[in-house]
Amino acid sequence: MSHSGSRADGPLHMVTPTIRSFPISAHAGYDVFLKLDNLQIPGSFKIRGIGNLMKKASQQGCKKVVCASGGNAGLAAAYGAKMMGLPATIVLPQSTPAFVADKLRNEFGAEVEIVGKVWDESNAYAINLAKQPDILYVHPFDHPDIWEGHSTLIEEAAKQLPCKPDVVIVSVGGGGLLNGLFMGMQKVGWGSVPCVAMETRGADSFNAAVKNGKLVTLPDITSVAKCLGALTVSAKSLELAQQYQNIHSVVINDAKAVDACLKFADDHRYLVEPACGASLAAVYGDVIKGLQKEGKLGEVKTALVVVCGGSSVTLKQLETWRDMFHL
Ligand SMILES: Cc1ncc(COP(=O)(O)O)c(C=O)c1O
Repeated sequence: MSHSGSRADGPLHMVTPTIRSFPISAHAGYDVFLKLDNLQIPGSFKIRGIGNLMKKASQQGCKKVVCASGGNAGLAAAYGAKMMGLPATIVLPQSTPAFVADKLRNEFGAEVEIVGKVWDESNAYAINLAKQPDILYVHPFDHPDIWEGHSTLIEEAAKQLPCKPDVVIVSVGGGGLLNGLFMGMQKVGWGSVPCVAMETRGADSFNAAVKNGKLVTLPDITSVAKCLGALTVSAKSLELAQQYQNIHSVVINDAKAVDACLKFADDHRYLVEPACGASLAAVYGDVIKGLQKEGKLGEVKTALVVVCGGSSVTLKQLETWRDMFHL
């Protein structure tokens, strides 16, 4: 694993390994490869896209970074700013766990402001802060530079895998990762490879948009996979799903996502959020077989799962969910 983030002119993310999972492959009955973006320093793939956005903005003279996120986007923005020597203000909704605020302040030196009951209120405040000159507003998922940064994940995987996969599996929150992956897949000649877009019930704004043929704003996020909890998915994600028949939206329940996190911890000794468990559940469970039965997927010999990671998880929290879902 190489880290070019220490070079002023290089990207802020690391090149992460793509590994063959022997335990999951044995379980699934086909070769499962894992793109381990949980190994990024701020804990998730988010640094790829947010890092790209920040690098571009700094070339245009940005002097400070503002981001509203109590999750992995905030951590990526704070880490990126620290690596670039820029001050960062991260605006958190009141519901954010205290350990996230501590991490932002103590590990990445960010200024933390707690404003608003829900993310939309924190975000409105952040947008207002960023109206001052030379301040970069970082959206958690909806920007072409973010998608371009996320596309590097596929460019790397294409070099690391022994062959083209038969399917790529990814979690969808606001859709930034999906948009970036799709961009990367076009670049490396994987345009015909189907993509399974995983969400949990109660955080399923992409599925609602696809079903309704228009953007839908969910009334609330009721899933434990809070990081998949964008009330409205990006317009670009819906556009892609409408344009390409090989993006398949799948919704699972929280219990399956948490169960996949537990199995993954045992199989690979990594702790990931249910947001990532949603993708892992596709290969631990019968999602792929289900899509094949529906005639949406052909033969699968090799699957690539994006292990998107997530920092807002602890062993204790995972145990609480295990008990809550009687797993
Ligand atoms: C761990 C993790 N996985 C997946 C996602 C979904 O990413 P996106 O919002 O780009 O769809 C997020 C978003 O915060 C996340 O933190």
